[in-house]
Amino acid sequence: MKAITIDDENDGPVLRDVQPPVCDADEARVHVVRVGIDGTDRELVYGDYSDYPEGDDYLITGHESIGVVEATGDSVTSLEKGDLVVATVRRPGHCVNCQAGQQDMCLEGDYTERGIQGAHGYLRPYYTEKEDFLVKLPDTLGLDGVFLEPTSIAKKAIRRAYEARSHHRWEPRQALVTGGGTLGILTAALLRLRGLDVAITDLEPSEKKQDVFERLGLTWFDAANTELHDVPGELGQQVDLIIESTGSSTVAMHTMSVVGTNGVSVLLSVTPGDDEVELCAACLNQGLVLENKEIIGSVNAHPDDFQTGVSDLLAAKQRWQGFPNNLITSTYDLDSFEEAVDTLDDNIKTVIQVSDYI
Ligand code: BGC
Ligand code: ZN
Repeated sequence: MKAITIDDENDGPVLRDVQPPVCDADEARVHVVRVGIDGTDRELVYGDYSDYPEGDDYLITGHESIGVVEATGDSVTSLEKGDLVVATVRRPGHCVNCQAGQQDMCLEGDYTERGIQGAHGYLRPYYTEKEDFLVKLPDTLGLDGVFLEPTSIAKKAIRRAYEARSHHRWEPRQALVTGGGTLGILTAALLRLRGLDVAITDLEPSEKKQDVFERLGLTWFDAANTELHDVPGELGQQVDLIIESTGSSTVAMHTMSVVGTNGVSVLLSVTPGDDEVELCAACLNQGLVLENKEIIGSVNAHPDDFQTGVSDLLAAKQRWQGFPNNLITSTYDLDSFEEAVDTLDDNIKTVIQVSDYI
């Protein structure tokens, strides 16, 4: 079968013939319907980094999937043919956290991530997986479940902010999401569902995006002509919670001084490279200490974040008609994956339609 892969030989993706996977007794075989692509995929396709699964010299990419169970092994009990499922991304290594099912909090770094690091992903007609790593979706969510993986990242970020403040009274009013990509928009929607006032910054947002921002009731700022430090002043109140998803390490560092008293800044951008930034260390430290600020780095998600993400996506779908499907501004097939990656920035969400959903 054909799969989108990366390897050391080629700069760019390769549509390659790969061996179909064998479905073990404790696995389900899943027919892939759609795969969302994001900055991580572009980084994999054009960056230097690659970690191939043992025994292979290529990696099948794609980590934001939705598919239908096609067959189940004899010992699978929770899934049946026809179930709509999303596969989680990270697989445990050997540390205590991984062994306890918290591989998103891995201590040793020996985890794998399907489609990203050391394990094949989902950009192919079908894959096999253990039932523990498959999230069964209600029919009411349908193909909007393709947003579940990025939603799980947002869920973990918000959960960790509230957990960090659970030892005292914390009633955040104003949130700020930096970066209006799919992750930023989903995060903003979840925060609106929690009743917060939410602002979002984005660099020269398209009209389509502005429309989405407005429909979600967000106050938006064009990062091209608004300094991050001016945002609280523009809003007329301090920012209690920042979720950073721009992909810029500079923005990430500045959120630490923009967030207000008792505020939390959750950093989500994976920023390879060696960008440097000049900061007033004394000012930054003074603010963090005297205002009890909390800075949290967050990656991946716990299986529970996928489960609670399902309910939130359903609630969002009900509250804002057409959401989140209206975030998909571009759909490609497997053969045109390269074009899909190259036009990522022109779109809100790009998905690869791997097969029809019947
Ligand atoms: C994925 C996460 C993953 C992270 C780091 C993100 O794009 O959504 O699941 O943990 O990249 O590899
Ligand atoms: Zn681990």
